[in-house]
Amino acid sequence: MSERQIHRIGVLTGGGDCPGLNAVIRAVVKTAIGHYGWEVIGIKDGFEGLILPDKTVELGFSSVRGILPLGGTILGTTNRVNPFDYPVVDEDGHETRRSVATEVLERAGDLGLDAIVVIGGDGSLHIAQRLHEMGLPVVGVPKTIDNDVGGTDLTFGFDTALDVATQAIDRLHTTAESHHRIMLVEVMGRNAGWLALHSGLAGGADVILLPEIPFSIQRIDEKVEERDRQGRLFSIVVVAEGARPEGGQQVFQEQRASLAARRLGGLSYVVAEQLAAVTDKEIRVTVLGHLQRGGSPTSFDRILGTRFGAAAVDLIARGGLGRMVALRGEEIEHLPIADAIAELKTVPPDSDLLHAARCMGISLG
Ligand code: F6P
Repeated sequence: MSERQIHRIGVLTGGGDCPGLNAVIRAVVKTAIGHYGWEVIGIKDGFEGLILPDKTVELGFSSVRGILPLGGTILGTTNRVNPFDYPVVDEDGHETRRSVATEVLERAGDLGLDAIVVIGGDGSLHIAQRLHEMGLPVVGVPKTIDNDVGGTDLTFGFDTALDVATQAIDRLHTTAESHHRIMLVEVMGRNAGWLALHSGLAGGADVILLPEIPFSIQRIDEKVEERDRQGRLFSIVVVAEGARPEGGQQVFQEQRASLAARRLGGLSYVVAEQLAAVTDKEIRVTVLGHLQRGGSPTSFDRILGTRFGAAAVDLIARGGLGRMVALRGEEIEHLPIADAIAELKTVPPDSDLLHAARCMGISLG
């Protein structure tokens, strides 16, 4: 890494929002201005802020005052914009899709940005890497409630979502027990089972369905019956939105041409219907949805976000372009974005979390 002269940096938040984004933005602004004496430009609505005009704002200390406990992102975000596949209207008025990546680079140059902090999950970091390969000076900060970014032990946002899901499972427990019901609770996480596995463990679930382990309705029912025989007349089933039955498919909310644009969700209703065919017990479904992404970040996510933001600015100062900050054990480190996104981080079959779950008598479907 070689140090270079920096005067002005940009910061953007891309992809789905999550609690802790504002903590990162605040840390970037305070470190860049207060520690290094640089200027900071906020880029609105993810990469779209480098495509459309009038979507940037100068950030100062006053812009980030009071935002540490706030969920969401003061810069706005989108998980629907990809500069490499962007809708444009041609001279005949027809909408076509093409790459506007060159325009993005030109715009960053026009804004005088010596580096851009991209705060994003897997999708945004892929875009950042491709733009970096074209010459855009970026550093990455990994965010997402899914915790599926490689190279880092944790992404910020995960802890808050986990807290929300665990509280929900706790609440469902009491009503499930009163009514002797099977309660299905669907959590987010896309193709990674981290949120389901952690919340299921923390909430004392009886069954956890993960994208990494295909399930069978019969095995879920066997677990419910086993509990019945023990006098435990209710069961809590945590369903990861990205799980799938043996030999079956994931469930999406709508059919879209592009797989990347399809939104997972609704699996728990399918599981409920199939379970109803084999059990006489009453079944109820709760889909937690975006509740997991909203609201104030936990203290853990505020601290991790703050550490990531400060470290990202330090990384720019040391010339670490094309790299991403990461949590490894207790330390903040960094690695090439390309390495971090090489593979989605899913729950490995030999995870001690799975072992612990099995030891607790939890069925993994
Ligand atoms: O990646 C974060 C996430 O919340 C996933 O867990 C979920 O599948 C997806 O985003 C939902 O996206 P949207 O906000 O577009 O509904």
